[in-house]
Amino acid sequence: MEEKRQTALVTGASSGIGRETAIKLAGKGFQVIAAARRMERLEELARQVQGILPRRVDLSDIEDREKFCQYLSDLPEPVSVLVNNAGYSIRGAIEDVSLNDAKRLFEVNLFGLIRVTQACLPGMRALRFGTIVNISSMAGKFAFPMSGVYAASKYAVEAVSDALRIEVRPFGIRVVAIRPGFIATEFNDVGNEMTGDLLARTDPDYKPVYQASGAGVGKMFVNATVPGPELIADIILEAVMSDAPKTAYSAGFMSKVFLEQRATLDDDAFDRFLTETTGLTDLKV
Ligand SMILES: NC(=O)c1ccc[n+]([C@@H]2O[C@H](COP(=O)([O-])OP(=O)(O)OC[C@H]3O[C@@H](n4cnc5c(N)ncnc54)[C@H](OP(=O)(O)O)[C@@H]3O)[C@@H](O)[C@H]2O)c1
Repeated sequence: MEEKRQTALVTGASSGIGRETAIKLAGKGFQVIAAARRMERLEELARQVQGILPRRVDLSDIEDREKFCQYLSDLPEPVSVLVNNAGYSIRGAIEDVSLNDAKRLFEVNLFGLIRVTQACLPGMRALRFGTIVNISSMAGKFAFPMSGVYAASKYAVEAVSDALRIEVRPFGIRVVAIRPGFIATEFNDVGNEMTGDLLARTDPDYKPVYQASGAGVGKMFVNATVPGPELIADIILEAVMSDAPKTAYSAGFMSKVFLEQRATLDDDAFDRFLTETTGLTDLKV
């Protein structure tokens, strides 16, 4: 008898990690719902790759998100693989980030992830199997200065993943967190665009803090080769296809160094390490 085709959902499939993941899942025979705002990109992907079903959603728009969740609930075949990937960053010292910008980011990176997961869970429970892959970040385990709000959203993704994993294990549903380091996608450009010209609007007090940390982080990239999104898509595929996926996976530029230090140093020592790495040890304003 022919096996039924399973349905996967990848959010943020119009570029970067999500796009590569959608392609790889389709290659494994999944019917892949590829969701994001840029429908023209998704339609182009569907023309190129068999098994891709493009679907527009703006996860920051609560009404639109609810419509999308209704669509998911009404699917004839439930989603059995959910890749919660859509996300973006904003930069800025905590004092500089408006609450509106922080709330919007949380609507996409956290509440969107929770809501889409809620919409997929009844179907997975009915199946008594499923895999939920949450794209966190190495910033889900420590926070770079000037990226505190983004890191806060990813810490929250880690907490949700940890609780959910234990809650849904009795139904045969697996939950995996992925912690990419730096990966070459549109992520940086989007972050810059969403943030705007920080130096122009910050208080003069902060200028040297931005400049020192910018130079500190910049140093890490000298002569560096930053891997592309295929690296993470391969890991997602490995987790989805595995009989016993790990709780969390990490890969990407600098992820090993930072996550190993975070796992081995105590809080004070890690704080010193990160202050040093980001070039702020000797700064006094
Ligand atoms: N690249 C890195 O260095 C890095 C490192 C750690 C973690 N990550 C995480 O990896 C994930 C994927 O990022 P990426 O590197 O592949 O970046 P990317 O190329 O910018 O992709 C982000 C995806 O999210 C979608 N998205 C953004 N806002 C959305 C919204 N309001 N509604 C629906 N979809 C939205 C975008 O689609 P539309 O614009 O078409 O809506 C796009 O498809 C993110 O969660 C990010 O935090 C990335």
